[in-house]
Amino acid sequence: MNFTEDITVRIPGLSREYTFYHISDAHVAYARPEDSDEAKAFAAKQTERWNQAQIAPIDAFTQFVDAVAKEDVPPDAVLMAGDCIDYTSAGNAAFMCELLPKQKTQYIYAWGNHEGGSYTERIPDGRAYYPLLSPVMGGTPDFHVHDFGEFLVVAVDDADKNITDAQTEQMKAVIKDGRPILLLLHIPLRTPANEEKIMRVWGTSFMLGTDDDNASARAFTALVKSPDSHVAAIFAGHIHFSHAGEFAPGRMQYVSAPLFDRFVRRVRVMGT
Ligand SMILES: [Fe+2]
Repeated sequence: MNFTEDITVRIPGLSREYTFYHISDAHVAYARPEDSDEAKAFAAKQTERWNQAQIAPIDAFTQFVDAVAKEDVPPDAVLMAGDCIDYTSAGNAAFMCELLPKQKTQYIYAWGNHEGGSYTERIPDGRAYYPLLSPVMGGTPDFHVHDFGEFLVVAVDDADKNITDAQTEQMKAVIKDGRPILLLLHIPLRTPANEEKIMRVWGTSFMLGTDDDNASARAFTALVKSPDSHVAAIFAGHIHFSHAGEFAPGRMQYVSAPLFDRFVRRVRVMGT
């Protein structure tokens, strides 16, 4: 496995070292043999769009999954920070729901705006598509907790910056648990360090923690940044370039570049 980046997260008191691979924005576009000609043509078009590294996104993704499966020492889990499919379709959902459960390694898959959206269809709330990917998102795409004994990995759907009161309440409950948290999001938290580059690249700010957030998103952001939150690190995607910066003093947020560009970050989690 070739790692684009290699980082370490320190959590005091861990009894052993843990390893995670952090990916996002694979933008897989897939149509099944039984799908319509229209569905096949759309998958081909989107595959072409995101073929930016002389590889089809679906091939970049399956090569990554195959490489993980061949590792002598597999990671404790793969963190998928959203937009791993390019649009909602039965074909894309079937692709993930067939491939990921077959793996020996655990894939922790956070919802992104592309999981909840489509280029061909406009619906008011992407969460209507939850049932399609629920089997690979712990049964609850909005909020799923993965227990590693000494710490938790918590995946929260913050796509479209639409955090609900229920999600904020769930976050409060896991913080009460008291164990350190690795937080997996799609949309990163706004920080002074990433804001400038995002404005330069995209011309607009669309991070979590900007003025147009709903009240619950503001409460959620404040909670995560609070010194009492136990969030040791954040892993996100969405912005299509890699970034690392503090979201709170001494605590880092890592944003990944797209897997269609073959970006893979290895995360070692160890004690101090
Ligand atoms: Fe995104």
